[in-house]
Amino acid sequence: MSETVKMIKAKFNDVEYELPAGLTVLQAAQQIGVPIPYFCWHKHLSISGNCRMCLVETKPGPPKPVVACGTPLNDGMEVFTETDTIKNARRAVLQFLLLNHPLDCPVCDEAYECKLQDYTYAYGPEVSRFVPFHDKKRIYKREDLGKMWVEMNRCIECTRCVRFLKEVAGEYELERMHRGHNLKIHTYKQAFESDFALNAADLCPVGALEDKKYHFSARNWDLIKVPSICPSCSIGCNIEIHSLDGRIRRLLPRENEAVNACWMCDAGRHNFDFVADNRLSGAQARLDADLEAVELDAALDFAHAKLEEVRSVHGGETIGVLTSPWMTNEELFAAKKLGTLLGAGKVGVLTGYNHRPVVPVMSDILPKTLVSDDKSPNSTGARLLNLTEGEEEFTFAHELITAIEDGKIKSLILFHEDLLVRPDFDSTALRKALALLDFLLVVSTRPLTVAAQAHLVLPAQTWAEKNGTFTNHGKRVQRIRKAVTPAQNTWDELSLVTALGRRFEADFGYETFKDAFAAMAAEEAAFAGLTLKGVGQLGTVVQTEKPSAD
Ligand code: SF4
Ligand code: SF4
Ligand code: FES
Repeated sequence: MSETVKMIKAKFNDVEYELPAGLTVLQAAQQIGVPIPYFCWHKHLSISGNCRMCLVETKPGPPKPVVACGTPLNDGMEVFTETDTIKNARRAVLQFLLLNHPLDCPVCDEAYECKLQDYTYAYGPEVSRFVPFHDKKRIYKREDLGKMWVEMNRCIECTRCVRFLKEVAGEYELERMHRGHNLKIHTYKQAFESDFALNAADLCPVGALEDKKYHFSARNWDLIKVPSICPSCSIGCNIEIHSLDGRIRRLLPRENEAVNACWMCDAGRHNFDFVADNRLSGAQARLDADLEAVELDAALDFAHAKLEEVRSVHGGETIGVLTSPWMTNEELFAAKKLGTLLGAGKVGVLTGYNHRPVVPVMSDILPKTLVSDDKSPNSTGARLLNLTEGEEEFTFAHELITAIEDGKIKSLILFHEDLLVRPDFDSTALRKALALLDFLLVVSTRPLTVAAQAHLVLPAQTWAEKNGTFTNHGKRVQRIRKAVTPAQNTWDELSLVTALGRRFEADFGYETFKDAFAAMAAEEAAFAGLTLKGVGQLGTVVQTEKPSAD
């Protein structure tokens, strides 16, 4: 039974509004679009009321301005946000903040996204009254705190960073030192240990906390911003990919209360160099003894001929397909169809518990919702597409290797997974098993050790170079979008799989991600009835009894 929300009436600048009870003046103003500037307030942090930027006058109320962030809105209340008193108060607050602020916007990472910059333009004084009395600014040296540069000269002492680490990350890594003019935000450690510390840099309304990886790598107004999903674990944090000149410069969390609120872990945030570095370019086929570069058409003809040979000599059931949870739902769906088309005996996935080093997590609160042992984005999608058998991790891949050793699998199409460098596989035994194959096709974005034994290598695209959907650990289907131009001579797996299917005179009936999504929604029970509109910006949870991958 839905609860009835009690409504109250209040006036903002003489205009009456009906609003839900229980809001603060600032929250109510945000709902109705009345601008009130603020620095220290944040909807996921406790109210500290220290910046005084959000001052308003109220009736009934005290005969002086009050903070909008900490004042409850009552029935019949009148709020004034644009009186001379308030305009003077805002000017005064900004004068105090700028007293020691370096005004080094031209070299500051925050410029263009800086609340102090914006408010100074919108509400600030044209000149400072303090210039004749205060010609020396307080100066601190820049500090290196591991993942961040700390520029205390720019700090406006709002304490958002301190409160985030205590209240959300559950860590006591930052604290206020000294008082008044000398107040300073500092840590008692040499460097941040928190795996969530960089959220504090996002929260900092000025440029006092700077992400070292992003430092000086772009000017904010030049960035191209595309909404997507973090691919670094099965949580599927909503993110924005910010790129410049075709290269990713940073990943920022994008708000989705059902998944990651407005946070992401530092490991995920910094995991994007693989998009630009160490990429495969162009197909390679072992026409003779060594792998050599070939055109894509020739490569697909080669794959077709080899797979046909295996089918005619040993039967289609001796073909195996090992997909990867780094593939999108649509690519997995297409790979599964290819397996069916070939009559493959084994089609499955190697789930994402791939034992890559996990950054130690110190937080008491965030890890429960924001860190997964499954360091891949789409194990659940694979499971919902019936690409795993059994509940044990790695079951399918181990069965597949055994089948190769027993001579039951003669040809393997392997997507992304570098089995030879994974500690959960015996590399010597695996090398021997792979040598038994008549045909090994490896599809990957980067050079894999296992490709040394491949007969054909096809270069694929990373999550930032293509469109698609991932299904997170909570069965939420979410969209990824092409954010950068794909690396030269690479193809997304959907194109590769459908093009190979055409060599077998099979028309899957789709070429684009949108068509593949529609076909998946029509044919796969777990995704039945899904539409891209329904997935929207925040994703949608599929209603199925099938378990997720965690
Ligand atoms: Fe300019 Fe803002 Fe940086 Fe200060 S923090 S230097 S106001 S951009
Ligand atoms: Fe606020 Fe930034 Fe200073 Fe922290 S470092 S108190 S977030 S201005
Ligand atoms: Fe209200 Fe800072 S936002 S005092």
